[in-house]
Amino acid sequence: MTRATWRTRVGFVLAAVGSAVGLGNIWRFPWLTAQNGGGAFLLLYLLVVVLVGVPGLLGEMVIGRRSGRNPVGAFGTLGGDRWRPLGGLALFASVVVLSFYSVVGGWILRYTVASATGAYFPAPQEYFAAIDYGVGAAGFHALFLLATAAVVYVGVDRGIEVATTVMVPGIVLMLGGLAVWAGTLDGATGGYEFYLSLDLAYLRANFFDVLGAAAGQALFTLSVGAGAMLTYASYLGEDRSLAADGTLIAGLNTGIGVLAGLVIFPLLFSLGVDPGAGGPGALFISLAGAFASLPYSRLVGIAFFGVVLLAALSSSISIYEVLVSYLVDEHGASRGGATAAVGTLFLVTGTGAALSPSLFTLLADTIANLALTAGLLGFLLFDGWVLGRLALEEYELGAGRIATLAGRPWFVAIAVILPLFLAFTFVTGIGGVVGVTPTAGQSSAIAVAVVGGCIALFSRRSRA
Ligand code: PFF
Repeated sequence: MTRATWRTRVGFVLAAVGSAVGLGNIWRFPWLTAQNGGGAFLLLYLLVVVLVGVPGLLGEMVIGRRSGRNPVGAFGTLGGDRWRPLGGLALFASVVVLSFYSVVGGWILRYTVASATGAYFPAPQEYFAAIDYGVGAAGFHALFLLATAAVVYVGVDRGIEVATTVMVPGIVLMLGGLAVWAGTLDGATGGYEFYLSLDLAYLRANFFDVLGAAAGQALFTLSVGAGAMLTYASYLGEDRSLAADGTLIAGLNTGIGVLAGLVIFPLLFSLGVDPGAGGPGALFISLAGAFASLPYSRLVGIAFFGVVLLAALSSSISIYEVLVSYLVDEHGASRGGATAAVGTLFLVTGTGAALSPSLFTLLADTIANLALTAGLLGFLLFDGWVLGRLALEEYELGAGRIATLAGRPWFVAIAVILPLFLAFTFVTGIGGVVGVTPTAGQSSAIAVAVVGGCIALFSRRSRA
């Protein structure tokens, strides 16, 4: 059976943008921004996206396009069978992310429906507390999963490409409309000030915390580390510039993220709601509750949650596809069989997260960041120290003049500098989990040792 390919370049870019733009931009980003000092976080986040996210995304896509395989098959094909377990890391990250992502997708689905009846308007806090976890949450999670599965089942070019080509422009138009409308509300300026003003004293006092949060968010929002972009790039022909596509994808994703902030912060401020309050529930309690006091509140609710639903679906599709492509490529499964098997897996893990708040929080807050960081670290060390020159060659295929000039600096970045940075944030993150906070010096020392050890191991194994 021949492997599917994207029909057009625009189709691929929109599918990848659809993967990147999601709950990360609309649900996670404003909440983290509020928690980490507003503009200070925005600044670091943008820096990490440019300096780490984009080169990392290219490093992941290089592996996918070169191999034309899912993550496990990609490492096996390019490096030999002993590298296949590295792809397992990406599969693991995919399972972690979709297991909680589809629970939030279920909440969004429920709020879209509830907007039509105004069910959450009278008592938003109580409403959210009643639906966040439990059997109902598991049910809506299953519906969200079913919608995801339906698109994946139809296939890469006819399902994913067609769906995301409609969804992404729809998301941009609706968010743009909401941003203009939010700007007309009384008190909106307070929101812009909070969002865009830079509190340097805050940044100085909390630099490493803000950096860690910004790094985790940059990976999450660009969908790197779980093999989604690797898998999407594996359906590409050879003639396109990965550097140009990757930059475009990251640029559009960031633009849409910033646009989401321009909807949410003016809204919150105009309604006198503290953006830091509510944490992960902010979108559902503060914002949704605030809709009640607006004219056309039901319509506003449907429009808002409808956009978020589209954004969430176009992302969950990309994670689901990672595992489906693995079963199809490596185990000869049919697309239908693979879609059903993956659905069953997520039905179980997602139901677990929907029933247990502590499991949900563990996955969403901690393990997801760590798994994506470890996944990307593996991809980049493989590029740098196993593929070596071939990675650079693949990057240069189809690249224009400017992108080609950037090739060597890119290679040095992904082989050495980014791994050090990722190992540093990984060590700090693990420290947070086990409850010890290493100093920046200690984290750096451990990061150097880990990356040095991996490089020694990777380059020896690739020669063996
Ligand atoms: N980028 C998605 C978002 O911001 O919502 C989340 C995501 C999708 C993470 C795909 C990882 C992934 F592989």
